[in-house]
Amino acid sequence: MSLLKKNFLPFRILAIESSCDETAAAVLEEGRILLSSVVASQIDLHQQYGGVFPEVASRQHIRVIYDVVDQALQQAHMSLANIDAIAVTRGPGLAGSLVVGMNMAKGVALGSALPLIGVNHLESHIYSAWLYPEEAPKPPPAPEFPLLALLVSGGHSELVLMSDHLTYQRLGGTLDDAAGEAFDKVARLLGLSYPGGPAIQNAAQTGNSKAYNFPQSKMEGTWNFSFSGVKTAVLRQVRDLEKSGRPLPIFDLAASFQASIVDVLFDKTMAAAREFKVKNLLVAGGVSANQSLRDVFTSQKEFPVFIPPLKYCTDNAAMVAAAGYYRFVHGKTDSLDIDVLPNWPLS
Ligand SMILES: Nc1ncnc2c1ncn2[C@@H]1O[C@H](COP(=O)(O)OP(=O)(O)OP(=O)(O)O)[C@@H](O)[C@H]1O
Ligand SMILES: [Mg+2]
Repeated sequence: MSLLKKNFLPFRILAIESSCDETAAAVLEEGRILLSSVVASQIDLHQQYGGVFPEVASRQHIRVIYDVVDQALQQAHMSLANIDAIAVTRGPGLAGSLVVGMNMAKGVALGSALPLIGVNHLESHIYSAWLYPEEAPKPPPAPEFPLLALLVSGGHSELVLMSDHLTYQRLGGTLDDAAGEAFDKVARLLGLSYPGGPAIQNAAQTGNSKAYNFPQSKMEGTWNFSFSGVKTAVLRQVRDLEKSGRPLPIFDLAASFQASIVDVLFDKTMAAAREFKVKNLLVAGGVSANQSLRDVFTSQKEFPVFIPPLKYCTDNAAMVAAAGYYRFVHGKTDSLDIDVLPNWPLS
């Protein structure tokens, strides 16, 4: 039973996400019970550019956002009269994309006299681990603090210590490419499709991960990552192999590259978890969809680990609603004159 409303009806958040190339909306009840989640992906539009084209992204958000929000309400069998707050991604992300979601959220909040909650996109990725598969009969236990979050996405690779809800201490992050970015760039190098993560994972399935010994930048003495070295090593290897005139061993290259990234992420996260004596581990962001990464973390028995269900790893609004819920509970609502923050750091 909700403690947030005097009439004891469940507390529901409508959330909107438009930070990059997904337009998404979701309705979440009591912080963890997902009533709907709609994601309109723009991958087809950006594939020809091999990455996200910002102006194309914002224009597409404008075209679909009304329908996406409407569908999220319909699928939840709700109208705005059943909603208690509006959460929206405020940043980081592409300014032109963020503005579309923000203006939609402000319009809805103003029109329905609802509180507005601006949410950090990285915090949303972290809170995606509070979501659970629809088929679960009841909510499983939530992550416990202190926890260590490995956030690996298209634009970020961060190790974040959380002593409590909304309390983030950034231990380190990538000094160059993000893990997802490395997957995307290496996929392009190997002639695989965009986005690169799923393409590399598929190719790696039949490859030998020990075929090539790509370097792992350990960044000793820090909690930082660096992925540009492995990317360059793959490039050199590809150039050498091309000289032979034979077809590239794509599967082996993909498997060896993936293993190199997964090993570094796993080793560094485990070392930090031990050092900071955390209770739980959390892995989130688009790269947490990677099966090999999920397997190494779920196979270790030292720390209970929370990884979002596959469909909530990449951008979605369910995770915005989950983070928005905890912001609301902690009294963090925003006024209708807030601006988007394209470079908003987590802590
Ligand atoms: N199975 C997978 N294996 C590895 N990487 C993956 C997989 N699935 C998706 N990715 C990668 O995840 C990234 C997309 O994740 P996400 O949507 O969280 O990024 P983003 O929102 O663009 O970046 P950010 O969250 O940092 O702003 C892409 O780089 C994609 O290649
Ligand atoms: Mg993201």
